[in-house]
Amino acid sequence: MTIKVAPSILSADFARLGDAVTAAAEAGADWIHVDIMDGHFVPNITIGPPVVAALRRVTRLPLDVHLMIEHPDRYIDAFADAGADLITVHQEAGVHLHRTVETIRARGVRPGVAINPATPVGALEDILPFIDLVLVMTVNPGFGGQRFIANSLRKIAAVRDALAHLGSAGVEIEVDGGIAPDTAGAVVQAGATVLVAGAAVFNERASVAANVSMLRKAAA
Ligand code: DX5
Ligand code: ZN
Repeated sequence: MTIKVAPSILSADFARLGDAVTAAAEAGADWIHVDIMDGHFVPNITIGPPVVAALRRVTRLPLDVHLMIEHPDRYIDAFADAGADLITVHQEAGVHLHRTVETIRARGVRPGVAINPATPVGALEDILPFIDLVLVMTVNPGFGGQRFIANSLRKIAAVRDALAHLGSAGVEIEVDGGIAPDTAGAVVQAGATVLVAGAAVFNERASVAANVSMLRKAAA
């Protein structure tokens, strides 16, 4: 599978989100990763459906919406209406994950499931046949700019093996947190197919275009 780069706008200037998305698109980004945080599932609070709808108007790139919220099923319709192309919910966030995933699918949106660093890959076993994407969190969710947790490599490989066993090699394996030129090669080697990157894309050191191309080079 070709490697996708999904810049996370969490690290962009929130007063100029439209410009950040345009810069990412011009840099050749594949998806735009949008982090939704509710102050309950994670300590931080970010944005909601109205901002996703506003971003929908400035880009044709797939909007990859990562819900770090409790009771995600209450908000599926709102994010689908806002124009999300993919909606990822956390395995830890609800007790009726299968229903949540089917609700996302019924809205014509591609469903993903995320696991936190302390959640074993085995917790995904019975939901894997129903989803289009597995998100292996490579930091504890809530903030950008954290350090990559090295144990994640073993988990990425375990997800890849579980998918191969199911014959579901088309399911994306996304990684999120601390992805930068120094970690991109290893996660891709372990089996990651979608690289989310916030601080490594939106920073003062280089342009968005230069940062995306450094990531791609490191991933290749
Ligand atoms: C973290 C978010 C990430 C975040 C990653 O909770 O889910 O998407 O933006 O940021 P970096 O790439 O800076 O670690
Ligand atoms: Zn994220």
